[in-house]
Amino acid sequence: MKIVSEISELRHLISEWRLQGLKIAFVPTMGNLHAGHISLVTEAHRHADKVVASIFVNPMQFGIHEDIDNYPRTMDNDQQQLVAAKTDLLFIPTPKIIYPKGLDKQSYVEVPNVSVGYCGESRPGHFRGVSTVVCKLFNLVQPDVACFGLKDYQQVQVIQTMVEDLSMPIKIIPVATVREDSGLALSSRNGYLTKEERKQAPALAQNIQWLANEIRTNNDFIGLAKKASRAINNAGMNTDYIHICHAKTLQPASEDDTELVILAAAHCGKARLIDNLQVFL
Ligand code: PAJ
Repeated sequence: MKIVSEISELRHLISEWRLQGLKIAFVPTMGNLHAGHISLVTEAHRHADKVVASIFVNPMQFGIHEDIDNYPRTMDNDQQQLVAAKTDLLFIPTPKIIYPKGLDKQSYVEVPNVSVGYCGESRPGHFRGVSTVVCKLFNLVQPDVACFGLKDYQQVQVIQTMVEDLSMPIKIIPVATVREDSGLALSSRNGYLTKEERKQAPALAQNIQWLANEIRTNNDFIGLAKKASRAINNAGMNTDYIHICHAKTLQPASEDDTELVILAAAHCGKARLIDNLQVFL
């Protein structure tokens, strides 16, 4: 695996592959990799000749009260996992390389509608940071396809919308969520959980699953979501939101919708966990 930090080196390697007519897949990450991230690399290999990954803890997507300095950084372990997954190239830029003028002078990409509400409401400016850095990384890597985890369902919709609205010639591949046996979605944030909280955390996925079963026979979406929210709180967490939405627009679901997604976030101790489930009626 080649590892580069400079944009010129990245462009040079990519252009050589392009000259050879090779297809390129891209997996952007913020590091602290686990089996969920690696499943994206595995999927990427199915769609391309070369797989490029990036590790960049993007300051633009962290709020002022969110502690970017304490975001887990495990570069040696990350690199070992990426090598084992046969990643061809790893791009690890510094903030100075990505935002040379500083964050306040940086142009940005703002995706309307799907970035509003849910995590967009709980984390103001978060999706602007995500769409801006992904746009920039897309321009640097110029991949044919890019893989994103459905664990971050709203993020996938934001990126898909950006690619469509701005005519980026990149196919977005959504990849299924990798979970522990308990149902808990793998996440870098699980590392913040104490032993006790680890036992509580699966209640998020379990109650989303419960809700998914209920809405097959009961269209009181709001009442059912409230019940699920209470059950998550009773398990020791603090529900941020749980909503039943249209799978594409992310608007609150109506009775006639058949393609749905349950979106949820809950605080478990210091960690804010998110999860979701698509439901096709
Ligand atoms: P990060 O949280 O590191 O996640 C990188 C990718 O891994 C995302 O596409 C995410 O959805 C996926 N992922 C995380 N947990 C997963 C799981 N359990 N199963 C499957 N996929 C999983 O998401 C980001 O970074 C950033 O916002 C980024 C897109 C890199 C932009 O900065």
